[in-house]
Amino acid sequence: MPVGHEETMMTGDAASNAAIWQSDEGARAYLSKQEAREAKRRAQWRLMGELLPYADDVAFTLLDIGAGSGPNARAILDLFPNATAILADFSPAMMSEGLTAMAPYEGRYRYITFDMTSGEWPSEVPTDLGAVVTSQCVHHIDDSAKERLFAGIYAHLRPGGWYLNFDPINAGDPLVDAAWQRANERQDPATAASERNRTPEEEHRHANHVRYMIPLAPQLDYLAKAGFAAIDIYWKHLDYVVYGGAKPQ
Ligand SMILES: C[S@@+](CC[C@H](N)C(=O)[O-])C[C@H]1O[C@@H](n2cnc3c(N)ncnc32)[C@H](O)[C@@H]1O
Repeated sequence: MPVGHEETMMTGDAASNAAIWQSDEGARAYLSKQEAREAKRRAQWRLMGELLPYADDVAFTLLDIGAGSGPNARAILDLFPNATAILADFSPAMMSEGLTAMAPYEGRYRYITFDMTSGEWPSEVPTDLGAVVTSQCVHHIDDSAKERLFAGIYAHLRPGGWYLNFDPINAGDPLVDAAWQRANERQDPATAASERNRTPEEEHRHANHVRYMIPLAPQLDYLAKAGFAAIDIYWKHLDYVVYGGAKPQ
């Protein structure tokens, strides 16, 4: 392999991820199924709030990275009426959709532009965050970016603050993968059927979806390496997990 080839490929993959999410078409395709998706994931987003060590009336700042239209942040703002949220994303199309969805939370949230693959955090993100969440986006970035992101999150949390991630994972074992697929197919035959008949555009987006999806164990290692305590898999169903941890006091 020529010197620098691997780096060029990574740049191309990152560019492809950005092109998908930053295009109106990519965002529209994703958001076309948002209602069903929100109904399916609401309990996990709520759980991420329920895990936080704050009384209901405590004021704290939440950062939702890769927030999209903000469903995860909304679930947590609903549980904590005095909390405020920063929603970070790099897609104008997704953030624009969020302006409508977030309208009832006016005054309690703001969007910022942030590419989570960049090591550079915007100075407007405070370093005393009470909680950070990510939902369905960490699998879009490569392993070194995941590791860097978790370290950046740790650096921006106040002591006692929590980070939780809700994401799909890779089985890392063909027998486990086949078992997950069997169960998914029986539980949701309509989705399984549509996935067998993808258009070329859907195939392109699917390739982007799975490109950097990795098993759970290394992700928990990245959390530990960043310094997190109380690391656990707080919820799991087949290939979807909620994991996270706390910055020690
Ligand atoms: C599958 S959507 C999830 C949105 C939302 N968190 C949810 O659970 O509904 C992935 C989101 O991650 C964002 N995203 C992907 N790569 C990103 C990056 N490198 N930096 C910031 N946001 C990114 C996309 O723009 C999109 O809004």
